[in-house]
Amino acid sequence: MRTVPGAFAAARFAEAARSPRQPVTVVFDCNKGRFGVLLSDPEDDSPDSIDATVTAVLPALYPEWLGDRSFCEVHGVRFPYAIGEMANGLTTTRMVVEAAHAGFLGFFGAAGLDPARIEDAVAQLARELGPDSPWGSNLIHSPQEPALEDATVEVYLRRGVRRVSASAFMKLTPPVVRYAATGLTVDAVGDVQRRHHLFAKISRPETARLFLAPAPREMLDALVAAGRLTREEADLARRVPLAEDITVEADSGGHTDNRPLSAIFPSIARTAADLAAQHGHGRPVRLGAAGGLGTPAAIAAAFALGASYVLTGSVNQAAVESGLGASGRALLAQAGVADVAMAPAADMFELGAQVQVLRRGTLFAARARRLRELYKSHASLEEIPAGERERLEKEIFLLPLAAILEQTERFWAARDPRQNERAARDPKHRMALCFRWYLGQSSRWAIADDPARRADYQIWCGPAMGAFNDWVRGSFLEDASRRTVAQIGRNLLEGAIAVTRAQQLRACGVPVSPGAFDVAPRPLA
Ligand SMILES: Cc1cc2nc3c(=O)[nH]c(=O)nc-3n(C[C@H](O)[C@H](O)[C@H](O)COP(=O)(O)O)c2cc1C
Repeated sequence: MRTVPGAFAAARFAEAARSPRQPVTVVFDCNKGRFGVLLSDPEDDSPDSIDATVTAVLPALYPEWLGDRSFCEVHGVRFPYAIGEMANGLTTTRMVVEAAHAGFLGFFGAAGLDPARIEDAVAQLARELGPDSPWGSNLIHSPQEPALEDATVEVYLRRGVRRVSASAFMKLTPPVVRYAATGLTVDAVGDVQRRHHLFAKISRPETARLFLAPAPREMLDALVAAGRLTREEADLARRVPLAEDITVEADSGGHTDNRPLSAIFPSIARTAADLAAQHGHGRPVRLGAAGGLGTPAAIAAAFALGASYVLTGSVNQAAVESGLGASGRALLAQAGVADVAMAPAADMFELGAQVQVLRRGTLFAARARRLRELYKSHASLEEIPAGERERLEKEIFLLPLAAILEQTERFWAARDPRQNERAARDPKHRMALCFRWYLGQSSRWAIADDPARRADYQIWCGPAMGAFNDWVRGSFLEDASRRTVAQIGRNLLEGAIAVTRAQQLRACGVPVSPGAFDVAPRPLA
């Protein structure tokens, strides 16, 4: 065929990568040994045209096609993109509604809320979106308060919540099994159909295994004996994996093992394939990717690893629909990739559990680490040297220790009086409850936008936030007030198809240079 010299220019390669919705013809100029691209009519009869051979034709690429199409079909979404649950209602009902309208799946941030508040939220979502629309809520494993998990599942079943994302499970519990198995039926061709879709968020192969296998027989039998499942539901539960959507979470905001996605995703994909073969499951389980996804390149990389869907967290916390106060959102919008730190977690403080938080603009991480050090090295509050205790009161707590102890006692008397009994016997536990007051309040101050406590804001955040900020600099999304979850998600996906197209071109021999395929965010309809 004959084609023009411009087909071999770097500018044309970049244009081809940035226009992924346009089919591309890749050609090879045998005389000069170089590849080129044609974006429109492959025949060109201009007098200075060149002889070239067609080596590939790349079809149009769309964000809807990036992941596993069964994800979109089963969950009724347009895009293989989910918005992760953020505790204490930070993923608000409004965010979940906006996500559904944008063609995404959103999970309400139910962790840390009491069942009555969760019920209000899911009832509102069912009213606004309908029970069958793409939305869900979080079920967080609460080993200290098993009754809470049970009550949350009661709410989800009573309110007909069709999608639940289970997280922090290190072992299975009856409520999570009950949720997944309730409503299992068999269709006309003998396939098991689900009423409830359990998503499992995991970061290790051993926890993935729990959800990739059928629910344990003894747990199902006990649920039948307790009248919480029918015999038929329990029998059908033995024929399918407990969850068919597994979100593999890498280095994320909040609780994280800090593992890179490129290391854990393939390992969990192998585990999933092994378990599917072992149990003879007919339908493949979908694996989603989360953690560190804040740029088009990261999203494209997650799909290239084999993700059926992607899920974002940190970048949505800075969106206008987020439950975080405005000053916290402004801090997030200024964060760089390295502006995060690991800090002691309020739950499991005594065991040394940590969460990833924003470091820039708040002293929370450093102060919380100081508290953990004092906890480790002293047996009681009284053992802490008087000068140090005074600094705690004046610089961190801004309250006398006695006042904090009074507040914690009142709090636990209502929530779990055993904590107070233990604190009365064990001064180290009393100290833990006192320090945990700070860890608990610091999240609330950030939500409530308390200006007096700005230096103490605890804002969970992963490196995805800084990567996102770098990418959007100079575009309309630099302005925090224009960050909606719809624009964030649509632009990430739109950019991801450009990155994917660039990679296709490279694999066909076209030398697209890195950076040439960056697509600047723009308002997308
Ligand atoms: C502020 C915040 C709160 C979160 N709370 C929860 C939670 O309650 N339950 C949960 O399963 N994941 C929670 N996550 C994790 C997110 O749902 C998501 O999996 C994660 O943020 C993805 O990684 P990224 O932050 O790198 O985007 C939280 C994340 C953030 C940033």
